[in-house]
Amino acid sequence: MSTSPPRILQVGAEIYPLVKTGGLGDVLGALPSALSRLGLAVRLLLPGYPALRQPLTNVRLVCRLGPAFGAASVQVLLGRLPGVEVPVYLIDAPSLYDRPGNPYVDGRGQGWSDNPQRFGLLGWVAAYLALGDIDPAWRPQLVHGHDWHAGLAPAYLALHPHTACRTVFTIHNLAFHGLFPQELLPVLQLPESSFVSDGLEFHGEGSMIKAGLHYADAITTVSPSYAREIQTPAFGCGLEGVIAQRRAQLHGILNGVDYAVWNSTSDPRLETHFDAAHPELKAAAKTALQRQLGLRVDPGAMLIGVVSRLTSQKGLDLLLAVLPSLLAENVQLALLGSGDAELEAACRALAAAAPGQVEARFDYDETLAHRIIAGVDVVAVPSRFEPCGLTQLYGLRYGSLPLVHRVGGLADTVIDANDATLAADTATGFVFDEPTADALARAARRALALYRQPERWKPVVRRAMQQDFSWDGAALVYAELYRQLLAAAPSA
Ligand code: ADP
Ligand code: GLC
Repeated sequence: MSTSPPRILQVGAEIYPLVKTGGLGDVLGALPSALSRLGLAVRLLLPGYPALRQPLTNVRLVCRLGPAFGAASVQVLLGRLPGVEVPVYLIDAPSLYDRPGNPYVDGRGQGWSDNPQRFGLLGWVAAYLALGDIDPAWRPQLVHGHDWHAGLAPAYLALHPHTACRTVFTIHNLAFHGLFPQELLPVLQLPESSFVSDGLEFHGEGSMIKAGLHYADAITTVSPSYAREIQTPAFGCGLEGVIAQRRAQLHGILNGVDYAVWNSTSDPRLETHFDAAHPELKAAAKTALQRQLGLRVDPGAMLIGVVSRLTSQKGLDLLLAVLPSLLAENVQLALLGSGDAELEAACRALAAAAPGQVEARFDYDETLAHRIIAGVDVVAVPSRFEPCGLTQLYGLRYGSLPLVHRVGGLADTVIDANDATLAADTATGFVFDEPTADALARAARRALALYRQPERWKPVVRRAMQQDFSWDGAALVYAELYRQLLAAAPSA
């Protein structure tokens, strides 16, 4: 039996710190390294956006493909990216990936019409790496794809007659499906036979996420609660039936935090540092943030922070609805977000009506995100659904107590401060049960009441900062899943 470490290919559409629109980038920036620290032979496959192509070093051309997926020429490169510990394959196809805007949408927020080709190619290259056709020197034994962008990889492999490669598909957000019309099947090199409800067809269209769910050997999602929720119509986005059918292959594995990046004791994006033993030093981060944002410098104001995509998922309309009544009680809000224009306008109006008390920035700003998470008293995440959620985990490490809806990963990571948990010294934040403005308002008032009793607030801050959600634990669970799948695999 071979003792060489299993070869695992991680496939996705973004990676911190180079290309990131949300938590998926954070996960792909951290999980591969955590797995490689466990001794697995991990490589990444990503689209060759200029932001990745330019900093790639030690570049080796591993394969030149002819015209494919609408691109005149496609090359697969292998190299190294700064800040990324594992080797990276990039798909060099400028006509598909060299675009303004973010990886998925143009400057006006419209999805690129050829997204099926752009991400279909990602799945196809993953599959043909595993089949040994692209880089004979390194053939993954298991392909792990993330979200719909990589959903076709398990389909290509399952539909190929000669593969021993195993596949894992992770749902980061079931709301995004990667739909495409049936006419694209030949372009995407998919057989007509896959376009059935017991395949990748979904209400008359092809669905890349359904392909991942249907064809992967194992499905994971990013928290145990979300794994349960997505089997129900309320959270299943129409795919609850497919998911429930595959219940036996579904695993909820909570995301981790990269504490090399998000850490109150060493964060290079902060001017001052603090730890669980000296949480009082956090006051300096709060003052610095209030100054930077033009908020009234007032240590007694309870400062709430939000760092979020502005979409209906995130429930920020609920927060905006209760904010005026909270502002009467010396509460402040620092918001950093981008997305929905209507939500942005509502935030802008609130900020204009409460200068010095509400500040909203509509930008994507990594440094300000860290300063908000560090400097606030409370991180609000009132999401309607939340597969995992990372900002509440970041808030915990900086002693910024999460105020969250009891859903998905938020429910799995925050312990509500009530009489029992306060007495037991297990409370880490504030949790409300219903996604309504009333429920959120009641939880915010409980937070405010506790905030006004520093001798009761401080132990909760300390407990929050002591929580450990490092990637090492999650990586072990993934590694065990890979081991089981590979043990059951036919030999190549
Ligand atoms: P989601 O992936 O659904 O957006 P997560 O909580 O998992 O939610 O991850 C969000 C990530 O994106 C966090 O790292 C957060 O700090 C970051 N983020 C969100 N909005 C912004 C922004 N406007 N500027 C900088 N970082 C942001
Ligand atoms: C998605 C989810 C978020 C999760 C992130 C990383 O974007 O919305 O809850 O934390 O992926 O898994």
